[in-house]
Amino acid sequence: MKSIERESGLKLSGSSPAGLVPKMLNHAAYVTHDTAVTVDFYTRVLGMELACSVLDDVIPSTGDPFPFLHTFFRIADGSTLAFFESPGLPPRAQPTHPAYSIFEHIALEVSSVEELHRWHAWLLENGVSVIGPTNHDRLILSIYFHDPNGYRLELTVPIDPSWNMHTDQAYQNVQLWTQTKRSAQEAGGDPTEALVKVIKAAREQRAKAG
Ligand SMILES: [Fe+2]
Repeated sequence: MKSIERESGLKLSGSSPAGLVPKMLNHAAYVTHDTAVTVDFYTRVLGMELACSVLDDVIPSTGDPFPFLHTFFRIADGSTLAFFESPGLPPRAQPTHPAYSIFEHIALEVSSVEELHRWHAWLLENGVSVIGPTNHDRLILSIYFHDPNGYRLELTVPIDPSWNMHTDQAYQNVQLWTQTKRSAQEAGGDPTEALVKVIKAAREQRAKAG
């Protein structure tokens, strides 16, 4: 079990004592105001299969009387993205900061760099605006775009085959982030300023390491 504990009392554990780990992504669900347009985009443009649907006038888990159509789109590994359309829902409230619309996104993995370039061309052919390819710390290569509902999507291919196995480094970064923030707060300083300083130092260190 990985664990980081410092004098500050910060304790971060890396595995469940119960030994339970979810097996795969079953679905992540979002709201749409137009299921037909969503079906067209996810099937024709993104090549996913409309795999399942649920119609109901009551939310089964809560009993809320919200009529809905729930649709699921399957990708190659069997996981799905899902949508709910419910009549009369007003538009979503605008985020309080533009960063929310950038940070919150859904990333789907593709098979190769060559395929990522084909995706890029295919999306442009379909009138979709695309950002990238962007190389993230030589871990993954990604392109970004939005679905017709305004959700930010990413198509990505790992460049580093063990990109999602860098656990020790991740714990070090979590520790660095948490400690820096806490120290700045305790000293009455500006956490953003302190964090930017350590981010820049870490970037310089990475550059030096090549
Ligand atoms: Fe991402």
